[in-house]
Amino acid sequence: MTDELVPKDLQKQYTKEEILDIEKEHLAPAVAHYYQDPVLFVNGEGATLEDSSGKRYIDLFAGICTTITGYNHPKYVATIKWQAERLVYTSSLYATVPYAVLAKRLARIAPSGLSQSFIVNSGSEANEAAIFAARKYTGNPYIVTCSRAYHGRTALARELSSAGWRTVPEGHPPGVRFTSYGYCYRCHFGKEYPECDFECARYLREVIRTQTNNAIAAFIAEPIQGVGGIIQPPSDYFRIVHEIVKEYGGLYISDEVQTGFGRTGSKWWGIQHAGVDPDFITLAKGFGSGVPIGGFITSPEIVRDYAMIDGFATFGGNPLSCAAAVAVIEIIEESNYLEKAAKLGNAFKQKLEALEEDHKLVGEVRGQGMMIGIELVRDKVTKEPAVQEMAQVMELTRARGLLVGKGGLDGNVVRLQPPLELTSEQIDESCAILDDIISEIEKKM
Ligand SMILES: Cc1ncc(COP(=O)(O)O)c(C=O)c1O
Repeated sequence: MTDELVPKDLQKQYTKEEILDIEKEHLAPAVAHYYQDPVLFVNGEGATLEDSSGKRYIDLFAGICTTITGYNHPKYVATIKWQAERLVYTSSLYATVPYAVLAKRLARIAPSGLSQSFIVNSGSEANEAAIFAARKYTGNPYIVTCSRAYHGRTALARELSSAGWRTVPEGHPPGVRFTSYGYCYRCHFGKEYPECDFECARYLREVIRTQTNNAIAAFIAEPIQGVGGIIQPPSDYFRIVHEIVKEYGGLYISDEVQTGFGRTGSKWWGIQHAGVDPDFITLAKGFGSGVPIGGFITSPEIVRDYAMIDGFATFGGNPLSCAAAVAVIEIIEESNYLEKAAKLGNAFKQKLEALEEDHKLVGEVRGQGMMIGIELVRDKVTKEPAVQEMAQVMELTRARGLLVGKGGLDGNVVRLQPPLELTSEQIDESCAILDDIISEIEKKM
């Protein structure tokens, strides 16, 4: 169907080769794609995508853990159209209905005591803003982040991320310190859970005592590391770390960019599974289910002095993104995604755990809800990361019409973070494809 008013160039039937040529000529190399022969997607429906040749794919990666409501949810599409016909943009120098309504909804679903939001455009900005506010509130410059963390691409967010994703030529800026994340499969301390007595969590005290002024502004961590390779420490890790953060006067920032909005099942926020009350949660990705939006929620006390000069953002809180985010929250509630993510995620993980038993390439299956990782290793004893094999998984899944993500410091973890519109039939089909592909790769090992 063509539309007279829409630029003809956008409606033209380009071939994939034409688009890739344009990209090569006019996009910076930082815009790189998955697959030796990249895919050009033209349509999305539910949890599936269609490429320019008409081939359909089950999407287990949701862009990058983003399209939580799938690709064409009627309420989402209708809300965006409705808002676009009224007011796409004005800045937060003026009040708008969508920003206020969104803030009210966020306060309703946020962990207890967190009732004030600040909206920006991305996860990186959300983390920057939360850290600025934490530093201002505490008057302390020190931030502790975790090994294998990824918190974004802006200057500070890069510094909060582990080597491998930091990619900055110079050293750390003043104030950022690293502690150990709880990664039981590859314990830094060579210990076994639970005999380890959470040395990884307790190491935070050592970091604070030896590398700060004996106090911190904040600690930042994901409840389950996404980019890091779907790493989920046992709940007590977070409880112990939280106690230490409080002992040294810090604020706890839970980066829920990937784990938020029900992805981990049965709760809105991943950190709630650990029974820890954070001071900030930071949001993006599933928050807008595709439209650019990020933000933080915190307590009124913490942002008491967080003034306009500290946080103004031209596009932050824009009506179009905020309206879409309101629709996302409503869809999650009406479709009971929290329960669905728990139930289907559990079934999905159980099926994948069978792969762990059957295949020497599968080192560990882990995660919670609709956030599951499969760590591939060349040898179950040495745990040598199966990097080449992971590259084969990417190519072979694509050929079989399945989209998965790649994660981990060594790039050997299959990331499954699908839209919550995924069906149990699609889960069955995906598991069968993964089983076949892993067997095929193993035959050549
Ligand atoms: C946990 C986490 N925080 C922050 C970010 C940065 O978000 P954005 O890419 O929207 O800036 C990401 C992106 O992958 C992320 O996974």
